[in-house]
Amino acid sequence: MSSQPLVWFDIGSLSDIPVRGARRVDIEGDTVAIFRTASDDVYAISDRCPHQGGPLSQGIVHGDCVTCPLHNWVISLKDGSAQGADQGQTRHYPLKMEDDRLKLGLESCAVQESVSA
Ligand code: FES
Repeated sequence: MSSQPLVWFDIGSLSDIPVRGARRVDIEGDTVAIFRTASDDVYAISDRCPHQGGPLSQGIVHGDCVTCPLHNWVISLKDGSAQGADQGQTRHYPLKMEDDRLKLGLESCAVQESVSA
């Protein structure tokens, strides 16, 4: 990760995401899966499994992990890393709650690139 300042984008509220489910947001040329756990923790990772690109947003959420629907790899929602013997990591995005709104953090240079594209 570089040290570029982050720009925070409003991506909705917690109630927009089903418990133990996910919602997809297309941003910065990536589809980001916003996950909500049973304990209402919220995480944002790329909706591409590090194995073969499976749609993690359609996986099963358990604890702070999601199981990919294609070949059952278990991916940490905290940092996008594959668990157990599997190797790989999908992109993880900073996320924060502000006044009941979820904000996704993107590097400002990346945002400028996507705006000008
Ligand atoms: S694509 Fe996710 S486990 Fe294979």
